[in-house]
Amino acid sequence: MNIRDLLSVAAAAISTSSIIVNGTTMAPLLPKTADDLIGFWNAGLSVIAIQNDRIIGHAAIEPLIGEWFELGAVWVDPSARGAEGKHPHVGLRLYRALLERHREKNILATTVNPAAMTVGWRVDLVPILYEQLPQEVWAATCCCPATKTGVPRDQNVPHCTMRQKSCFVRITSKTWQRIGCPEPCTLPILRPESSATIPDDDIVILLAG
Ligand SMILES: CC(C)(COP(=O)(O)OP(=O)(O)OC[C@H]1O[C@@H](n2cnc3c(N)ncnc32)[C@H](O)[C@@H]1OP(=O)(O)O)[C@@H](O)C(=O)NCCC(=O)NCCS
Repeated sequence: MNIRDLLSVAAAAISTSSIIVNGTTMAPLLPKTADDLIGFWNAGLSVIAIQNDRIIGHAAIEPLIGEWFELGAVWVDPSARGAEGKHPHVGLRLYRALLERHREKNILATTVNPAAMTVGWRVDLVPILYEQLPQEVWAATCCCPATKTGVPRDQNVPHCTMRQKSCFVRITSKTWQRIGCPEPCTLPILRPESSATIPDDDIVILLAG
């Protein structure tokens, strides 16, 4: 399979992905086309996981504003995800490879997925409130609807009613240092107590570029 075929499979999976959080089924990822993923790959902004010639994982950093990027299109095939008694750590391998490659960039991550929060802890993402981001970055990434924030979308930054409550974003530790080490906030998912051991298997991680 060539890279276009592999990324087409990932794009279809990303666009139809769903998770259940607190009993509610939701789409955790923005839909992506194969061309979107090829664009990230050609720009050196993504990473994939391959097993037996099959794509089983993808992650990218997407340009947000200025020197800031947002972790996105993060997907692991359900058959390869971590769970009780099963720890292939594909998601962790993707995050590690991508964030290590781009440690000089300012990167933030948003999610509602508890598994993604667990992976984030393991790569030392730091949770902060949106309002602790530079204001233009907050405005660029905030997409909450008025039903959540209490104000129209274009008023979120100055007037969001959730701004000091459950409204968190995670940033890489290097980014956190670069913006002056703001006070971390609490995440709904605690840092995992167990450390992760990457198994010796046939999963290959390929970094773009
Ligand atoms: C998020 C995602 C990429 C993680 O990939 P993964 O390969 O399962 O990640 P890892 O195995 O490295 O780590 C996941 C960890 O979260 C844990 N986990 C799973 N559900 C959890 C929950 N409800 N609460 C806390 N931890 C949870 C897993 O058990 C695993 O930890 P462990 O191996 O120590 O037990 C994958 O679940 C996925 O593709 N989800 C659908 C798309 C999505 O939500 N993408 C992220 C959007 S921001």
